[in-house]
Amino acid sequence: MRGRIGTSAQVKAANAQFLALGVGTGPDGLEPAPGTAEAAVRYGIDFAATAERADFKGAPGQALILELPVLHARGASWDGLAATVGLIGVGDGGPEALRQAGAKLARAARGKGKVVAGFAADSPARTEALVEGYLLGAYQPVKHGRSADAARPGSGDLILVGGHDRAAVARAQVKAKATAWARDLINWPSNFKSPAAVAERAAGAAASRPTVSLRVLGPDELAAEGLNAILAVGEAAWRGPAADPGRGPRLVVATHSPAGVKGVPQVVIVGKGITFDSGGLDLKPAAGQVAMKTDMAGAASALAAVWASADLALPVKVTAVAPLAQNSIGAGAYRPGDVIGIGGVEVEVGDTDAEGRLVLAAALAWAGTALGADYLIDIATLTGAARIALGARTGAVLTPDDTLAARIEEVGLAHGERWWRLPLVGDYREALTTPNADLNSVGKAGWGAGAITAGLFLERFARHPRWAHLDVAGAARAPGGQDWTPPGATGFGVRTLIALVERLA
Ligand code: BES
Ligand code: MN
Ligand code: ZN
Repeated sequence: MRGRIGTSAQVKAANAQFLALGVGTGPDGLEPAPGTAEAAVRYGIDFAATAERADFKGAPGQALILELPVLHARGASWDGLAATVGLIGVGDGGPEALRQAGAKLARAARGKGKVVAGFAADSPARTEALVEGYLLGAYQPVKHGRSADAARPGSGDLILVGGHDRAAVARAQVKAKATAWARDLINWPSNFKSPAAVAERAAGAAASRPTVSLRVLGPDELAAEGLNAILAVGEAAWRGPAADPGRGPRLVVATHSPAGVKGVPQVVIVGKGITFDSGGLDLKPAAGQVAMKTDMAGAASALAAVWASADLALPVKVTAVAPLAQNSIGAGAYRPGDVIGIGGVEVEVGDTDAEGRLVLAAALAWAGTALGADYLIDIATLTGAARIALGARTGAVLTPDDTLAARIEEVGLAHGERWWRLPLVGDYREALTTPNADLNSVGKAGWGAGAITAGLFLERFARHPRWAHLDVAGAARAPGGQDWTPPGATGFGVRTLIALVERLA
């Protein structure tokens, strides 16, 4: 992510190792990229004929890589000529296709120090999508064990030819950087990633941003604020024989307050921050635990959205509320059948593996009273049921507000993040009843609809007409990787949240 991005009027560039040309498909066949005529002369290549011979059709993400032996033999970038030329398909040239092409370019040009790329820039949104795709595709995770700050192979410099809007490039850089920050935190192994360590990383990110203020509540303050549910979920991880205060729960509250603007709307984003989910006493089977360092993806996304809102200087107040706890087993562990007060509601713990909704409920109830939001969003890797319903490339939206649902779907789609609304079926509230308390934390056997009953549970605590719950249990991880992300954390949701805030600005 350390590569610089510049613009230029011509494809000739000193030290470029890779020349990319974004080729589209129009009504009359292939549509050449800006700079193609210049490149054809300089390189002596008939690109149209070359494309045809190779059956290159310009489909989004299709790539035709030409290694030029004579130039390779002459050494790096002789006379401004790159030794590798790539035709990258951009299809209809729309944002979605350009995002895919950008990601493809990042992969094709990996390891090249400097890339010159001719792509048509018909609108700022298209430039933004292209650069965003490029930077997301260029992301590489740090090797485990090193801190998320450790050096890593970054992408090379990118020079865009084709009259690209510089502000759009800058916006894409901010969004990709926020996504990478979230990915780094999500990919960080749980032995390092205690609640205290996450809070520290958040404090580090906040410190470099003048409009952001940050507060961290420790166990004593959680008790004082009545946030017992967060304490209960995190209890086993830090008390007892292997006492480790850093493993104790935290609540991080980070706010971007735009300078000098009054009367701005406020968005509060609550993100699930389970730094490892073993399931607790209702222990997950081994295979179910493998990916559970990812269970704080919601918290990472909420925080990243605040950093980006600050970096974009958006005239909206944005607050991330991140309840952080490790769900462990131990003598002090909370138990199935325990009853915990959350925001005035007595909740019976139906299953200790349904820990996310407890910490979210507490944080939502707390944020509702303490912060006064215009929009209240929560984002969480909440249910295996959401992942089964929608798979790894689509997030679930649950909200009583039709307008908000449509807006989330719309801004998500514009950023390559697909959402699908699930209904908050009122009848299913009956599944959450118990003779032992006001509410059971899980739906009774036989009711199914696990993602929906989780949403209905949260609704009881959000108590806000403009509340939406985002379940990213599937989308937060890409098991095999995709063009725009390597295997592991995707940062899915970060750009939707930023775009939602942008829409309110
Ligand atoms: N963190 C899990 C949900 C999850 C599962 C995320 C798989 C990503 C991949 C959550 O805390 C959980 O365990 N949910 C339970 C709820 C159940 C006990 C009602 C689930 O979905 O099985
Ligand atoms: Mn769980
Ligand atoms: Zn969980």
